[in-house]
Amino acid sequence: MWAIARVGVDGNVAPAPAACDDLPTWGDEHNRQSPGRAGATRRSAAREAAIRIALMSDIHANREAFTACLAHAQALAPDRFVFLGDYVGYGGDPGWVVETLMAMVERGAIALRGNHDAAIADGTNHMNDSAAAAIDWTRAQLGAPAREFLARLPMTVEEDGRLYVHGEGSAPERWRYVEDAADAWRSLGATQAAVTVVGHVHVPAVYGLTATNKVTSFRPTGGVAVPLLRQRRWLAVLGSVGQPRDRDPAASYAMLDVARAELTFHRVPYDIEAAAARIRAAGLPESLAARLFAGR
Ligand SMILES: [Fe+2]
Repeated sequence: MWAIARVGVDGNVAPAPAACDDLPTWGDEHNRQSPGRAGATRRSAAREAAIRIALMSDIHANREAFTACLAHAQALAPDRFVFLGDYVGYGGDPGWVVETLMAMVERGAIALRGNHDAAIADGTNHMNDSAAAAIDWTRAQLGAPAREFLARLPMTVEEDGRLYVHGEGSAPERWRYVEDAADAWRSLGATQAAVTVVGHVHVPAVYGLTATNKVTSFRPTGGVAVPLLRQRRWLAVLGSVGQPRDRDPAASYAMLDVARAELTFHRVPYDIEAAAARIRAAGLPESLAARLFAGR
């Protein structure tokens, strides 16, 4: 569904967004709330500055993929975990995933709301049949504390010049995707954050806004650090822990090193057979199990 060819084309030119005149510097205290989103953003200025941040999105009730990514990240000793939404939907173990997430938030992790999380309370109006079937099944699997936890998650969080949001920054509640340079420009123009981190697309990508207001884009390689040059502003699309769609079935997450200004994407193999077996055992559509093996 997500056109890989649209990502990886460098040199896409976009008009100058007004918000780019005063570029923030990495590590500055730069907590600010974007206009028009009063009440939606949770600030975190009181949190201790994190140096190494594990970034994960779109876990989608995939216990095996989540477990593998947590173990991989823990070995790199992150100072904090940030989760970009879509903890449920599609996969076969939403209860364990949400309980694990709740415990991590209790210990200081940041968690954003995704559209599948919102659908637990708000309904499945805009979802296809298999996604809606998974949400309806998921709703019955979750206890009241888990449902309330998902309902209370913030749409955006900003800290130290970074904006975290599931979809994109210009209208987080609309759940729009960042699939190309124009999408990235729209989001980057809505914030002065030096780095925006999003999920939702399930395909990893990095976009940079240059000093001459051009948006460049590329697909990151797993295990290779991307230098986030301080003269640019950046938008990173994380890819998905639990349902990758870039034809690589390995789980995807990223580690941000604030001190080095580097972002490294990781691809983590996991027990896909076990994850697919849970989906089948739950009676969810077979397509949701089959797509995990193909990474699409
Ligand atoms: Fe998702």
